[in-house]
Order: sequence, then structure tokens, then C-alpha cells
Amino acid sequence: MKITIFGSGYVGLVTGTCLADVGHDVMCVDVDEDKIARLNNGEVPIYEPGLEPMLKQNMEAGRLQFTTDAAKAVKYGKLQFIAVGTPPDEDGSADLKYVLKVAETIATHMDEYKIIVDKSTVPVGTADKVSATVRATLKERGADIDFDVCSNPEFLKEGAAVEDFSKGARIIVGTDAEPVKKAMRECYAPYNRNREKLMFMDVRSAELTKYAANAMLATKISFMNEVANLAENLGADIEQVRHGIGSDPRIGYHFIYPGCGYGGSCFPKDVQALARTAGNVGYDAELLNAVEAVNKRQKGKLFQKLSQAFDGDLKGKTIALWGLAFKPNTDDMREAPSRTLMEALWEAGAKVQAYDPEAATECRRIYGERNDLVITEKRDDTLEGADALVICTEWKMFRAIDFDHLKQKLSTPVIVDGRNLFDPETVKSAGFLYYAMGRGDSLKRDVTRTQSESSLKRTA
Ligand code: UDX
Repeated sequence: MKITIFGSGYVGLVTGTCLADVGHDVMCVDVDEDKIARLNNGEVPIYEPGLEPMLKQNMEAGRLQFTTDAAKAVKYGKLQFIAVGTPPDEDGSADLKYVLKVAETIATHMDEYKIIVDKSTVPVGTADKVSATVRATLKERGADIDFDVCSNPEFLKEGAAVEDFSKGARIIVGTDAEPVKKAMRECYAPYNRNREKLMFMDVRSAELTKYAANAMLATKISFMNEVANLAENLGADIEQVRHGIGSDPRIGYHFIYPGCGYGGSCFPKDVQALARTAGNVGYDAELLNAVEAVNKRQKGKLFQKLSQAFDGDLKGKTIALWGLAFKPNTDDMREAPSRTLMEALWEAGAKVQAYDPEAATECRRIYGERNDLVITEKRDDTLEGADALVICTEWKMFRAIDFDHLKQKLSTPVIVDGRNLFDPETVKSAGFLYYAMGRGDSLKRDVTRTQSESSLKRTA
């Protein structure tokens, strides 16, 4: 089957490469000439496990091509996927200008029946807007050509996108049109062999399903972070509470890890966009607004804890920071808690020595050269001359630590752990002040120790 994909960003690239890998013929089109040139050289502009070899293999096999020629791309596929960005505009709503521009481009060049597939995460009602744009453009051309628009939201996790594409829980298609159902069945047949994963529904329900899924997951996280904060104040341990509630199958163990707040390109943007959509139809989405507010507050917690450890004075301190990406196995720093922390530290006059296995280049791109930021090549190089250690991302390589070595390196034995990687007793018996998330009892003791043992601190 011939397939065209507009947008060679994260979603477009993964979709195109995976569909080529199961034998479809795929043409990816993007307006960014530099990106297309790099892709044609087999260079993948994003880090995603398994993507690069799969992309190269399928390019060599002639099933995957990249172009900037929109006219050629529209003529190519019966299915025209729209996978371009939908950045938030000033009020947090998803900005549809790129999506509608692609709709116009398709209508400008099509000369036979096409199925337009909305893959980007778009607000409810977008398929209707895409249809209206295509219809208007065809009318301007005086062309009488049939088309359909359907919604086919993606549920890809960064760092596991290739796997998610082939082994995802469900494939949602929003359409009432029989030819669309037939074509989408053919497109996804390779992924639909073991069990029926395709779910057809009306287009608005499909659009809302994507937002509802992400908003539900974000709600679980904010809920746990709220309870974690409460646990801290009550002297309870959120990790024990997590086990306790997760064992109830109605709650489950997934996605209830407390931490320093959710980040990435999806949750923050989608929760906001859904709240704005609600506002547009006159509904006050109180819960969604609270989910967002709790997350914002949570991202400030790491700084708050460091501040507490240093009695509010971080000026001139050097903080070792492990983990810049918003989660492990990605180089993505969009909305990452590390950014909130670094910016607050700089504001307070502290210096950051950071390490991340993948996100160093991205961090340099965002912040450029600064005197108060050193990005190291190795994890433990961050500890040279550092006063305290903060962990923002749960990369595997941060889990096993030689605490004696760490203690020798840090001028003050302070660990702020935004991901609850360690057993508080172990860390404390190694002589550290351990500030984790929602581990109330450990924190309470730490606080008293911080006050009574301030002599412990060899001030830098
Ligand atoms: C998410 C959805 O999972 C995916 O289905 C959707 O299509 C896009 O958005 P992604 O943003 O790549 O994917 O990351 P995910 O692994 O879901 O994590 C999101 C954020 O939540 C991370 O910042 C992570 O650290 C945080 N998180 C996750 C928690 O704080 N606690 C948890 O229990 C789980």
C-alpha cells in the first residue's frame, strides 16, 4: 500500500518507518530541507531506540523515501497522514496552522480520491476543520474530487515509540466512511494479527480519546504527587502507600510513581489544550486545571528541598545534577523538571554541574554557553567540587551508587532525589541527608538533623 506522511518529526518518522518496515511503500515529506537532506543520508534527527537501523534498512530496501516535494508526495499515497506539530499558542490551545496548511497542500495537488488521516494530536473538531479546508481549496481550484478525513491518534511513548507502534494496546480510527475503514484495515493489518486491536468510532470520539488517555495518566501522576506531599507532612512513606494502593486491581501499579513532576511534549500540552477546549464550549474543567497546577508546583519541589538543606542560601553553591531529560531513554528536555530546577538555581546564584547520557547536546542547544553551567562527559565528573547532588531523571545508571565515594566528593552530604531511587535507611546510614519525594519520615528526621548537625556542613 502506498502511504504519504506529512511531517518528519517524532510522530511522522516513527509512523513512516514502522509502516515501511511491515512492507508498505512510504513517502515522508517535510518543509525542512536540511532535515530531509540529513534523513536522505540516513541520519535520524531524534534519539529513539531502534529507529535508526530500521530507517536505514527500509530506505535501502526502497520502501521509505524522504522528500520536500509536496506535489509528488500528494500524488503518491492513497493515505495521506498528517503528522505535523500542534504547538500550544499563547492561551495553551493547540495551534492548528501547520495541520490546516497541510490540508490545503493536499487539496491543491490531489487529482483523485484521497484519505486524509489526522495523526497529530488535535483538538476535538479538527477533522471537520480539515474537511472544510480541503473542500474550500478544491472549490477554488474548481476541482470536483472526492475525499475523506479520519482521526487516527498516536499513543507512542518517547523512548519506546517503535515498540509501542507495533505492540500498542489499540489502534483507534475515527470515521463513519466504509472506504476509510477498508483502507485503514489494510494499513494496520500487520499489527492486527494476534488480536483485534482496531477500534472504529466516530471522529470526535477518536479525537477526544487521545486527550482523555493522556489527561487520565497525567491525573494519576498529579494525584500521587499530591498524596506524596501530604505523606511528607504527615510523616508517612509514599512508597509504602504506593504498594498498598497499587495492589488493588481497580487502581493498579502502573503510572503511580511519585516524582518531581511530569514533563515532555505530551502531558503538559495536552492537559492544557483539553482544559482550553472545555473552556471554549463553556465547561469549567476544574480537575484538569488542578492537575496542571499540582504539576507546576511539583516541579518546584527539588529547588525547595535544596533550599531547605542549605537554609535558604544557595548563592555560590555548586550543585551536581544527574538527569536532564524529562524521562530516561530520550534526549528530550521539553518541560523537563531539570529545567525548572536549573533556572531556579541560577536565579539563586548557584552553579550547576550536570550529566545526562543523551541530553547533553540538547541542553547546550537550549541554554548555550553559560558560566554557571558545566555539562560533563561522565556521571561522576559532576561531583568535582560539588556541594550537593540532585537526581532529576531515573536513568538506570544512577541507581547503583558508591555512597562512600559520593560522601568524599560532596562538600555537604546532601542528596535530593526527585525519583525515589534509593532506600532511605541505606542512604542515611551512609551519612547523608536524604531528601526524597514523599518519604515523610525520612525527611522529618533529616530536617532535625539539618538543623542540629549544621556543623556537618563543610561550607564550600
Ligand atoms: C506520553 C503517553 O504515555 C503516550 O501514550 C502519549 O502518546 C504521549 O505522552 P511520553 O510523554 O513519551 O508519553 O512519556 P511517559 O513515559 O508517558 O511519561 C510522561 C511523564 O510522566 C514523564 O515526565 C514521567 O517521568 C512522568 N511519570 C510517569 C511520573 O512522574 N510517574 C509515573 O508513574 C509515570
